[in-house]
Amino acid sequence: MGHGKQSIYDYPLYYDILFGWNRDAESGFYDAAFRHYGVPPGGRLLEIGVGTGQVALRLAGRGWQVTGLDVRPDMLSFLKAAAGQAGLSIRTVCADMTGFTLKQPQDGAYCPLSTFRILESDEAALSHLRAVAGVLRGGGVYVLDLAFRAETEAAHEPPAEQWAMRRGGVEVRTDAEKVYVEDAASGRRLTLEAGWGGSPALRPYGSRAFVNLLDRSDAFTLEAWHPEAGRSREGISIFDVQRPGPLPMAGRGMAVLRRAAGAA
Ligand SMILES: C[S@@+](CC[C@H](N)C(=O)[O-])C[C@H]1O[C@@H](n2cnc3c(N)ncnc32)[C@H](O)[C@@H]1O
Repeated sequence: MGHGKQSIYDYPLYYDILFGWNRDAESGFYDAAFRHYGVPPGGRLLEIGVGTGQVALRLAGRGWQVTGLDVRPDMLSFLKAAAGQAGLSIRTVCADMTGFTLKQPQDGAYCPLSTFRILESDEAALSHLRAVAGVLRGGGVYVLDLAFRAETEAAHEPPAEQWAMRRGGVEVRTDAEKVYVEDAASGRRLTLEAGWGGSPALRPYGSRAFVNLLDRSDAFTLEAWHPEAGRSREGISIFDVQRPGPLPMAGRGMAVLRRAAGAA
């Protein structure tokens, strides 16, 4: 938003294709984690940065009452249409994740794919954490998919993964800095900003910096960390709710946060 150049986020269909690998394992982890950490099954869940809602749709299909929050109305329209087609009901809220309120308190929240690291400063991250705490009931759980880097690493991360996806006559591929679209049906060829690589890149965190931020928020405590437990043959990350571990210096995992009792 606001960078002038067109980004993959301006094209929900192409975003949906590029991020349309099998998201079952990831969704299954959220489902299991909310139950494991005491969220009543079928309760209200909020997805932060829901995009086209591939995870939200799966969780709604498992009986959760899902609300998806995103700053981009086109993403939410795409999600609404997909939910309608699937016969599922998902509430959508168009708002910035650094400041929002909801009418109904939520039992849990989650934020896939390091979207938290889109926030560019401590101030933005703190106001996000406080906003999430403000809509969660006491004792509610916030699960964040995060990738840490070692604090000794150079300021610039190594290039993120490159991948390509196809659906119908459309190919969407990324080299982490840019996204390249070839749409045979419309004859369209686009080069778009990736938004998670290049500039602005996702903000890097060491695990210590993340824990310091949580302490400063007065909103959440870290209940558990579930490191990536392996990868499927297709290269898809697997997480195991039965296997928490110590916070690593670097690597991807799911951070389970508990809303502090006295959070505003
Ligand atoms: C990497 S995508 C993740 C989408 C979805 N959660 C998924 O797993 O496929 C990040 C999403 O965050 C949204 N986003 C970016 N900045 C935001 C902000 N400040 N507030 C709310 N949403 C934001 C983008 O529009 C985009 O849909």
